[in-house]
Formats: sequence, structure tokens, C-alpha cells
Amino acid sequence: MTIQERVDALLKKMTLKEKIGQLNQAGTTMTCTLPGFEPDMDTWVSEMLQGKITKAELDRRVAMCEENLREDEIRDGLLGSYVNLYDDEKIARGTDIARKESRLGIPVFVGVDVIHGYRTMFPTPLALSCSWDLDAVRRETQVAKREAWVSGVNWTFGPMLDISRDARWGRIVESPGEDPFLAGEIGRVQVEEFQREEEDGCRLMATAKHFLAYGAASGGQDYNTVDMSERQIYETYLPPFRAAVDAGVGAVMSAFHDLNGVPCTMNRWLLTDVLRKELGFDGFVVSDAEAVKQCVVHGTARDEREAAKESLLAGGDMDMSSLDYIQYLEDLVQSGEISEEEIDRAAGRVLAKKFEFGLFDRPWTYDPERIRKTVLSEENRAAALDVGKRCAVLLKNDGVLPIGDSVRKILIVGALADDRQALMGPWSFTGRADDQITIVEGMRRYAPEGVEITYCRGFGVDEDRSGFEEAYKAAKEADLVIAVAGEEAYMSGEAASRADLHLTGCQEEFLLGIAGRSVPTVVVLVNGRPLAIGALQEHTGIGAILESWHLGTEFGNAVAEILFGRYNPSGKLTVTFANEGGQEPMYYNHPNTGRPGNDFKFTSKYQDVPIKPLYPFGYGLSYTTFAYEKLTLEKTTLKMEDTLRCRVTVKNTGKREGEEIVQLYIRDLAASVVRPVRELKGFQKISLAPGEEKTVSFEVPVTRMGFYDQTCHYRVEPGTFRVFAGPDSTKGLEQDFEVI
Ligand code: GLC
Repeated sequence: MTIQERVDALLKKMTLKEKIGQLNQAGTTMTCTLPGFEPDMDTWVSEMLQGKITKAELDRRVAMCEENLREDEIRDGLLGSYVNLYDDEKIARGTDIARKESRLGIPVFVGVDVIHGYRTMFPTPLALSCSWDLDAVRRETQVAKREAWVSGVNWTFGPMLDISRDARWGRIVESPGEDPFLAGEIGRVQVEEFQREEEDGCRLMATAKHFLAYGAASGGQDYNTVDMSERQIYETYLPPFRAAVDAGVGAVMSAFHDLNGVPCTMNRWLLTDVLRKELGFDGFVVSDAEAVKQCVVHGTARDEREAAKESLLAGGDMDMSSLDYIQYLEDLVQSGEISEEEIDRAAGRVLAKKFEFGLFDRPWTYDPERIRKTVLSEENRAAALDVGKRCAVLLKNDGVLPIGDSVRKILIVGALADDRQALMGPWSFTGRADDQITIVEGMRRYAPEGVEITYCRGFGVDEDRSGFEEAYKAAKEADLVIAVAGEEAYMSGEAASRADLHLTGCQEEFLLGIAGRSVPTVVVLVNGRPLAIGALQEHTGIGAILESWHLGTEFGNAVAEILFGRYNPSGKLTVTFANEGGQEPMYYNHPNTGRPGNDFKFTSKYQDVPIKPLYPFGYGLSYTTFAYEKLTLEKTTLKMEDTLRCRVTVKNTGKREGEEIVQLYIRDLAASVVRPVRELKGFQKISLAPGEEKTVSFEVPVTRMGFYDQTCHYRVEPGTFRVFAGPDSTKGLEQDFEVI
């Protein structure tokens, strides 16, 4: 029987309640074992994410509660999937009840945010994108998939594919950056790898989220309004989701915000016309957490009953955590406001994915020994280290790095250098801080014989200056200072928007202070977003800046391999660093305007900050140097059905081996709508020995050089184009060609 035949047969056996149960997703509930102690997970998690309580305190409180699996709802077929159930024993219990004690034995989805690893943490998605390395992306995804699957998870709420052009938005940390093509390539690989079935049945259903244009929230304020032209939606925000749908993604998560006046959760144009009719998506749509009930707050539903009705009819198949579907859909069918066919259609989509992803035929078996041998294995840690070091971006280096043999005493300062929880970064609930290698530990592990590593806190992300003097004094005894600055884990991620992109508290004051004491100083950034660090870039006492984002469980070792020169940093930025938050959103692939910013007064710019970004998209230094020597085009006049074939020669002009991410951009010089000054169309990472040169070939079909016109139709127009091959989005070789 085909999957559809099996679905149809099963639907015929199901009651209306059971069908609606498949559209209902919820987390566990908590009851408390201590009298008078009211569990309140939402408040506790919120306080932890705001740094008001530690993770350890959260865990302490949770330990005084009992987590209930909604067992009766599962038994009665009223709950089709869990959200964020992490404990493998509890997952085993819940899945067993569904299969063995419910009337029809329909298995449950266990959905978890596997965003950058499961138990072995990997670089956050923004960091990962800075590797520009699809093999590294695949590797991270494969490890995360296996660790989650052996633990009972069968659905991940990832990849997040929100194009992010505004560093004020905290969830930029979870994004694949600002470029639609690169984001699409990363999303494609992650969907393929998450969903690829391995010999033993290991696979996760993936979710492309958050549909759509969540990263364009007004003012970078999370959950806020998005209002833009459909042309911009098609041009910038849709492409990564198109790539995920083309890769067969099983689910799409609609976003919290209102898009052009209608919440995505109940936006028929978005969820049905665009996602299904245009992109051909055949999976199911799950709302974001409690987003169905939030339609009432948006003001587009009178009450939760109407919110449930409008969301389902718009194309929202599953309700995450509102409990509105399970509460109101049966009544809506009985009153005739929704037909049972609508319920069948939504439930059929969910069941089809349960069949497709093996929940019926290859059910997970709880095997604690297999879990123990799999999660956090040495092999997985090694993978995390190898991927992690490829994601760091060297922003500045006057030659102080890699650390030379003359350096015998290194002082590490900064609370973040030794803070396991902070180093894990956001969306690391399935990881454990105790597993985390700190930067202090990594540096001590890799320090050559005879090199002394000392640590003192000195400063943190707050206003506490009490450690300054001790640190300044210790610096006098050191040959090199490694200052670790940036953000605590909760300062980026969900509900973590910031108006000011400067380093918080007294961090900048400390760094400029220590840099002025003529001790060579290296700043290592631990952060989830581009920061306004122009003062560090300008200060000659700061010899180097390494953007290390959040590199995962092996963070400290990855940083140490780079600083001690065991690995030559190769990462490049996938988001623009603005000079100030007030310049956001700032991105490379922008239209030229009629008065592009320059020194002439009457041009588009701010009076009080530099016109150019602090660091552009595609930028990153190496311990060696590269020269782009020759760009040749196979032909310079192309027809619509042709492919642009070009070759560029790159030479390692330095003294050590290095990897270079060669980038290919185009520009349509004149079209019926404005075109970006550059658009990424290809990238390749190559390794070159000192003095070695390689010729890199790119092929770009002319059909990929088009755009969405004013009627949102994709087209390629004849005319003159410019192709660029270079080290980032501002430099390199260029040549024009004609499309006829
Ligand atoms: C959150 C996030 C979403 C996540 C979901 C489940 O609010 O917006 O990305 O997958 O809830 O945790």
C-alpha cells in the first residue's frame, strides 16, 4: 500500500476527536512535590534566559517537581506529538503509551529544537554559516541527528532559515546569515541530512522555520510586525524555504509575527497560496508556540475559538501548545463552520509524515546502552572540535597571532572565558554545561611546554569594575593578554533584541584600559550577533580580534587551536557588522539608490558614522595572505539558455598553509527594477600551501541571474552584467558580460 492509501485507511477508522488529536502538540505539565511550591516553568525559564536565575537553580526547582506526560491524553488519542520532551526515559514512556495503550496505536512525534547539536553541542547556526563549509554543515547535522534519534527524538524544529539583516534581532544567532543563496544551500544540506534514513532507521523529520520573514521584525524587535512588498518577500526571504521544500522538508513552522497585516499563523496567502500552491510543499504546517491563541492578541481573532478556525482554514495543520485545536475544532465541525474534510486533510498530512519517517514501521527502541555509547562520544567531540574551529572569523590581526614562541606567560581575563553556561550559547537546552570546555581549559590543554597560563576574571558583561586593578596588575607580568568579551548565552536568541550593539557594561572600558598598558592584547568575542566594536578595531593596543561566536562543547579547544596556530582560521562573515545599531538593518546585497553614500553631502548616509560597514559580508582574515590574479570568462555574450563559466586563479602569497573561501558575485547593471550591488552566486573553499596557486571554476546558469519583477514573476532580462570573484563582498576581480 502507498502511504496515502495507508493514511486513508487509518482515517476511516479514526473518530473526529482522534483526528483532531493528531493536530494537537503540547509539552509536559508540572506538578509539585513540595507543599506550597507552585511550579511555573514558563516564568522560571524566562528568568533563566534573562540571567536572573542560573540553569543550576532552574534544574534545582525542576527537580522538586514532577513532569507529567499527559498520559491520559495520549491514551485517548488526543495528543499527537510532544514539544520539547528531552528525557529519554520519559520519551520511552510516552511513546509506549501511544503505541500500546491507545485505541489505534498511532505513534507520537517527539519534536525538539535540535538547533546546534543535541548533547554534543556544535557551533550555533550563525557561527556554522561562517564556515561556508557544506561538509562541516553535513557533519554537524549528522552527529546531532544520531544523538537526538537514539534518545527518542524523531522531529527537529530546524533548520531555522530566517534571513537576518538586523543585528538588533537576537535570533540572528540562530540564522544562516543575510544571504538567500548561502542560507538556501545550508538549509538544503541540513534538511537532506536530518531526513536521510540510515541503516538502523536513524532519521529526524526536519522543519523549515519560521515561515516567513521573521528576521525582518520591525526595529529588530522579536515577534514584531513585518510589512514589506511581496517582491521583497519573494526576492529575499522565500528562497531558503524554497530550497528546503525542494529538498523534501517534512514540516514548516509558521512564524509568530503578522506579515503585511495578517499573522503568519492564520495567513492563507502565505500558508496555502505561496507555500503549497507555488512552492509545492506537501508536508504539514505547525504553528509556533501558542501562536494560535496569540491571534487574539494580534487582534485578528475575536476569541480562541475563532483563532483555531481561521488558523486551520488558512493552512495551519498543527497547533503547538495553544490547546485551541483540541478544545474547539470538534465544536467547529459540529456547527458546520469547518468541514470534517478540512480536519481529514490536516490530519492526513500529519499521518503521512508519521508513515514516511518510519514511526509506524521502524519505531524507535529505547536502548540506554546505545544512548550512553552514542551521546558525547569522543568521535562526536572530535567532530565538534573540527567543525568549531572552521567557524571562527579572524577580524583583526597585526601579527600578534598565532601566538609566538617568545610568549611564555599568557593572562586570560573575562568572566566569559570560564563560564560554561555562557559558552554554550542559546538553544542549548539538550546540552549540559558540565560537558563544556572553557577557553581557559582549552588554552591550558594546548599551551606548549613551559608556557604559563593564568586566569583572572577582571570583568564581566555587567558594570562590576572591582576586578579591573587585579587584572591590570596581572597583565604587567604577562607577555600576552587574551581578553574574552561579548554576551552571556541569554543575551542573544529568542526574545533577546537589543537597541545598543556595543559591548555591555564596562567591557569596552576594560578592554581599552588593558590595551593601553602596552601588553599585546587579543580579544576573543563570545557573542550571538554582530557587535559595534569599532573602538576595538581602531585601538592599536588590541593586536587581534577573533570572532568565535559560540563554537560548541569543544569551544575552548577550538579557540586554542587557532590562537596557538594549530589551525589557521578560515571562517568568513555571513552577516554585516555595522558601526552602530542605528545603522541596522545593514547588509551587502542592497540596491544602489540614486545617491549612494559618499563624501558628497547630498548622498545616502549617516552624518555620524562611517558609510562602509565595520566588517562586510564575506570578510575574514587568515594567518596567510591570498592574491586573486586572473578572472577569465568562457564567453562574454550569453543567451538565456547559457551558463556563465568563469575561472579565477588564487595564490597563497604568505608563509603558511591556509584555506580561502572564494566568492562569486554578480550584478545586473540595469533592469526593470533596482538590483543589488552584488548578489552571491557561488562559493568554494580551497586549501593552498605557501606559494601555491589554484584556478577555481564557477558555473552559473543565466536562469539564476533573474529577479522577481513588480508582479512578483521571476524573470531574467537581457543586458550587461558584472561578475566579481574575490575574498569578500567588497573586493576582487571583475568583468562585464552581456546577456542577450
Ligand atoms: C519557540 C521558537 C521556535 C521553537 C518553538 C519550540 O518559541 O520560536 O523556534 O521551535 O518555540 O521550542
